Amino acid sequence: MKKISVVYWSGTGNTEKMAIAIKDGAEAAGASCTCISADSASVEDVASSDSIALGCPAMGSEVLEESIMEPFITEIEKRNLSGKNLALFGSYDWGDGEWMRNWVSRMKKTGASILGEGLIIQNDPDEEALSSCRTAGKLLAQ
Ligand SMILES: Cc1cc2nc3c(=O)[nH]c(=O)nc-3n(C[C@H](O)[C@H](O)[C@H](O)COP(=O)(O)O)c2cc1C
Repeated sequence: MKKISVVYWSGTGNTEKMAIAIKDGAEAAGASCTCISADSASVEDVASSDSIALGCPAMGSEVLEESIMEPFITEIEKRNLSGKNLALFGSYDWGDGEWMRNWVSRMKKTGASILGEGLIIQNDPDEEALSSCRTAGKLLAQ
């Protein structure tokens, strides 16, 4: 059974809803999946998973959340994640997805296979958006 880690930071719950839908999709596809907030996640657990999903909304001015998620990602990006599938996801509002483009290019250096170009949803995810998240979870479980 594939072990999948979903780790996210979410201020108002939009990215958290995406995280839960990714977990639901992964479990429906038969994977074992943990879904936790970045403030209680372990870099070791994440790096030892078969597939990984990391979520954070656009914050600051098109950056990751700086006190918890950015330091977590700084540790994760030091790891060799070759052979692992990695999904990046998050909610945004007024931007054009710049934070996600930058995040995807950072994470490519880990050697992980990035699913698509990051899954971004404007504000509160609707049912169609949640369905895309469940599909991403299924793909991570393959
Ligand atoms: C402090 C702050 C900074 C933000 N910066 C951006 C930004 O640079 N670009 C953008 O598109 N949205 C920005 N947003 C909007 C959030 O990304 C958006 O509200 C998102 O849905 C929040 O997701 P969450 O509910 O998971 O926290 C910002 C929101 C806050 C509170």
